[in-house]
Amino acid sequence: MRNALHALTDELRRLKTAGVKTVAVSDESVAALRRIVQARARGGSAAALLDTPEPAASVLEPRAAAVPLKAYEPPAPVYTPKPVLKPVAKQLPPPPTVSLPPGDKQTRWNVLLELVRNDATCKAHVRPGKKVVLGAGSVEAKIMFVGEAPGAEEEIQGEPFVGPAGELLTKMIQAMGLKRTEIYIANIMNWRPEMPTPAGEAQIGNRPPTESELRYCLPYLRAQIDVVNPDVIVALGATAAHGLLGFAAFKTLGDVRGRWYEFGGKSLMITYHPSYLLRPPIDNRKKRLVWEDLLKVMERAALPIADKQRSYFLDK
Ligand code: URA
Repeated sequence: MRNALHALTDELRRLKTAGVKTVAVSDESVAALRRIVQARARGGSAAALLDTPEPAASVLEPRAAAVPLKAYEPPAPVYTPKPVLKPVAKQLPPPPTVSLPPGDKQTRWNVLLELVRNDATCKAHVRPGKKVVLGAGSVEAKIMFVGEAPGAEEEIQGEPFVGPAGELLTKMIQAMGLKRTEIYIANIMNWRPEMPTPAGEAQIGNRPPTESELRYCLPYLRAQIDVVNPDVIVALGATAAHGLLGFAAFKTLGDVRGRWYEFGGKSLMITYHPSYLLRPPIDNRKKRLVWEDLLKVMERAALPIADKQRSYFLDK
């Protein structure tokens, strides 16, 4: 027994030196190791156990045919190359000056779209094949929603809120008695904030934009507000609220949501982001709070509100 365990440990040392990280262990070795652990738990020492005769086979668990250590062929080491991570950009140039020509809303919006799509900084932050994202919707909208940043779906399609959060946002808009095409949806950021990703692989996950990223993109949001000229802006979530109110304006979204603020001469309502509502625990209390905020938005935008709409979620 002692010899077998010495041979085992010698072999494991040899494999480790050779760079092998995993080994297959025979059932017999597992049983022997288990006996050592049990002896230790009873207060005995491994050395004492090594000197005790092997228990009769009948008291051991049924065992698989033992593989003699000498016959064991270690697997060839698997070489896993270290991923090359693209550093996330930290330094950004000063925010752009966006000036649009006079003209009708649609013409000015089209110019803005070209400007943002050709912005060298925005372009430098999107991966090959992905898109810079401007807001979308009606340039005649009374209500403008402002979210955080494009995600995986948005950077593919070049449109804001087309993923799961967008589906919920569409339902919220419909609950207000509107169509998605009647409002305007923008983001505080025009590109998907990059995460370190192995070269050639798709980015998994999202991160909130940094303060300097928000500052860089803000002129594009201001220009969209200028063109669309909505009655009410609704900031969805803490990032949008920080972008519009300033980073020092609040600590938790609960401090500012449901209240009226002002941005660029427009009424600004702050509420939770649809992604927050989708995150477990899915709870009707959160939904009810958002709905209360949206009722205030409807009032401010002079939209009709039916009794049924007022009592949404109250019975849940
Ligand atoms: N998609 C967006 O476009 N913005 C968000 O904030 C979340 C998802």
